[in-house]
Amino acid sequence: MSQINDAARVWFITGSSAGFGRALAEAVLAHGEHLVATARHLEQLQDLSARYLDHLLTLPLDVTNEQEIRAAVAQAVERFGRIDVLVNNAGYGLFGAVEEADDAEARQIFDTNVFGVLNVTRAVLPIMRKQRHGHILMLSSLSGVVGTMGMGMYDATKFAVEGLSEALAQEVAPLGIHITLIEPGLFRTSFTGRSLKVAQKQIEDYAQTSGMVVGWTKQHIDGQQPGDPALAAQAMIKITEVAQPPLRLVLGADALDMIRKKLAGMMQELDAWEATTIATAFPAVE
Ligand SMILES: NC(=O)c1ccc[n+]([C@@H]2O[C@H](COP(=O)([O-])OP(=O)(O)OC[C@H]3O[C@@H](n4cnc5c(N)ncnc54)[C@H](OP(=O)(O)O)[C@@H]3O)[C@@H](O)[C@H]2O)c1
Repeated sequence: MSQINDAARVWFITGSSAGFGRALAEAVLAHGEHLVATARHLEQLQDLSARYLDHLLTLPLDVTNEQEIRAAVAQAVERFGRIDVLVNNAGYGLFGAVEEADDAEARQIFDTNVFGVLNVTRAVLPIMRKQRHGHILMLSSLSGVVGTMGMGMYDATKFAVEGLSEALAQEVAPLGIHITLIEPGLFRTSFTGRSLKVAQKQIEDYAQTSGMVVGWTKQHIDGQQPGDPALAAQAMIKITEVAQPPLRLVLGADALDMIRKKLAGMMQELDAWEATTIATAFPAVE
């Protein structure tokens, strides 16, 4: 068991091998914190282990494997005695029209992006409840707020994370635990490169809608995203240091713009249909 400096917190990050998870792992370690960095393939964390012997525990974790989740959380607590910040980061994208994704593809992405998040959270919450403190960062997305053609399955997983996090935040607030949904726009990670999956089936009728989005993303987005994951990592650290962290943190001007447009559109539609909306109650009893 290593000595833990009172001021340094213990972070637990899923999917630390690449992208946001990797950038955050490096930033957390450079910030002088303790880190449990987890990844499907431990060799991807070897360079970090060599640099941060005392502060870092690396563990194998595929978030779809409940046994590995239980083992990793137990080892984290055995080594550091606590978990202050959990980052549910592991996830991937599935492109294709909603009808194109088959049942196996749909269930697979829910297994990682939703049930993975749920199972890791369920494993860590008893520790945070006992501590009466903790902060859980949920890597949602712009796609957790705004649905886009060609990304319906991915959007659905992130909308699910948004719903469960919003409810969870209310349940755990009295226990001293904060939840923050991180909603990035386009960031330069492996997300649209090696991590991206595309539905096997392609239906010609969707070539001009979903098909265009998939093609455009591969050609014009991958490697050219405006967002810098290292700066996103700094923003994530920052919100763990304030007394009242936000429920949502949008990252990137692109995401901010699209979310503002969505909310304005929703308000407009709510107002336009208000009379129909409220004309559905039983007559008031005098
Ligand atoms: N980049 C963006 O523009 C963007 C925008 C909004 C939200 N996000 C979200 O940010 C999170 C991180 O994605 P990223 O952009 O950093 O992509 P990335 O560079 O592809 O990194 C994804 C990470 O998740 C890991 N992972 C995938 N499935 C896993 C599983 N079953 N168990 C454990 N680890 C798993 C990957 O591990 P391997 O190395 O083993 O594949 C990798 O470490 C995701 O939740 C994504 O939805 C990304």
